[in-house]
Amino acid sequence: MGRVCGTQCHRVTNHTHRVVACIRQDDGVTDRFPDEPAPESAAGRASEHPAEPAAAAEPELEPIVERAAEGPIEAPVSDPAEMRAHYRAEGLDESSLAAHPMDQFARWFHQAAQAAVQGMIYEPNAMIVSTADADGHPSSRTVLLKQYDEHGFVFYTNYDSRKARELAVNPHAALLFPWHPMARQVIVTGTARRTGRDETAAYFRTRPHGSQLGAWASAQSSVIRSRTELDVAYDELSTRYPAGTQVPVPPHWGGFRIAPETVEFWQGRENRLHDRLRYVAEPDGTWRVERLSP
Ligand SMILES: Cc1cc2nc3c(=O)[nH]c(=O)nc-3n(C[C@H](O)[C@H](O)[C@H](O)COP(=O)(O)O)c2cc1C
Repeated sequence: MGRVCGTQCHRVTNHTHRVVACIRQDDGVTDRFPDEPAPESAAGRASEHPAEPAAAAEPELEPIVERAAEGPIEAPVSDPAEMRAHYRAEGLDESSLAAHPMDQFARWFHQAAQAAVQGMIYEPNAMIVSTADADGHPSSRTVLLKQYDEHGFVFYTNYDSRKARELAVNPHAALLFPWHPMARQVIVTGTARRTGRDETAAYFRTRPHGSQLGAWASAQSSVIRSRTELDVAYDELSTRYPAGTQVPVPPHWGGFRIAPETVEFWQGRENRLHDRLRYVAEPDGTWRVERLSP
């Protein structure tokens, strides 16, 4: 067993059951990531909850992390009304924001990626994509962000899937990055466009062989009779395209790029007085930032 906090802690474990964060249950305060470098306050926290040295040399990202070795997982609280985490992160201030939301996203994404290295977050590029059909009925699902730049956020999927069919009739979409261990979320609204075939093909070539076959085998979102149907389809494809051979890019598969219209950066703070700063695209191509009440 590694080091543990001096205070009463509920230990948060990652998928390997390593303890990655401490939630103090005596006063309901969770030690979380600061937003930007804040050496003096970081030092203050470190003296309360001594942490392991961060793997990468980025002092602003040294969280209060307990890296105890494998130990028993504490009894879970199963009543959601009893589940309370209180955030004590450093604030997100207008003056610290990047001029462009994608640059601000890059900062936070980099920090989330570092948190993943430290075991605090699993798949920081997982995001929830919400779409709606022509009648306004919404649907959501998780996908993986595969690229981002000044033009937007890219994910890949089946163009016959429910999400793709909805985007075909209603290109408005919302994205949500749920970086809970950092007491952060990023919420994007925008418009979806398919990526070009060259861009799709370039990404498809980087996928593992099995994932390439999977893109062919699955008629995503359609009802199938059994698991066997899927496995048989995959086996036939792997006979046709053995490992090492080139799998063609499925015509029904490709990317969507969500061009942002608003991007909200949400930082959880004490007493539920969270910071919410939202970039809004102006018609002239500039961005306005507004603060939202939590
Ligand atoms: C962590 C995670 C990552 C996923 N990534 C993708 C992805 O990148 N593309 C995709 O089409 N589906 C992905 N899925 C599956 C989707 O959540 C969803 O089941 C699928 O796209 C069908 O959605 P739809 O029927 O609403 O269109 C992922 C699921 C999880 C849990």
